[in-house]
Amino acid sequence: MTNLSVNLNKVALLRNSRNFGIPSVIEAASTCIQAGAQGITVHPRPDQRHIKPEDVYELAQILSVEFNIEGNPSPQFLEIIREVKPTQCTLVPDAPDAFTSDHGWDLAANGSWLRPIIQELKDLGVRVSLFMDADLIQIERAKEIGADRIELYTEPYATAFRNGDVEPVFQQYQKAAQKAQEIGLGVNAGHDLNLQNLEKFCSIPGILEVSIGHALIADALDVGLFNAVQEYLRVLGGSIPNV
Ligand code: PXP
Repeated sequence: MTNLSVNLNKVALLRNSRNFGIPSVIEAASTCIQAGAQGITVHPRPDQRHIKPEDVYELAQILSVEFNIEGNPSPQFLEIIREVKPTQCTLVPDAPDAFTSDHGWDLAANGSWLRPIIQELKDLGVRVSLFMDADLIQIERAKEIGADRIELYTEPYATAFRNGDVEPVFQQYQKAAQKAQEIGLGVNAGHDLNLQNLEKFCSIPGILEVSIGHALIADALDVGLFNAVQEYLRVLGGSIPNV
């Protein structure tokens, strides 16, 4: 069973286009939880174009499910993590002006400065996941510097799926997930997963969690947020609460 963590960035993006709090990120989180989502993900970026630090603090007050906070470990980001101590922190190598996360960590270049940060977060009781390409050598380095999990960056898989030539790319992800599990890393996944490509990806054994934002929020425009969450849960094969 793979857990679903709903990424609420796009709800905040819409909310930020007016000044009176609609749609509410907090209400959206409550709806996702009621529908059965096992987690909520946010990615507070330095330009605050979607999730703002206040959103993170407010969500931390109300969440009854896993809270996953993603971001590049800048001093401002780490301040939020120290205060909130979420269940999981996913460290992402985004440039401050990144349009969206578009690559995993190069740990040959970044491993030595990340290692003490990972240790500090683990000492706070926060599970640490690193956003990674499906690259076996980089995944070994993630283990060496102390990560608990990796989040596989699934955009290349999603693109190959859309283009009808997914098999070779899928096999690379299978190998990456297997390698990670063999060396004791938990495996999450995210980016551009949707109702079409999710089932195949999650046929890889042992995927612990998917974090999904863009496609799920787009689906919610058609069917409502509650129903959209439940459609994803159905694909993931978990239990769906009767409300
Ligand atoms: N994982 C990371 C690290 C991300 O930056 C994002 C996008 O914010 C996602 C997962 C979710 O991607 P999507 O919005 O395409 O579902």
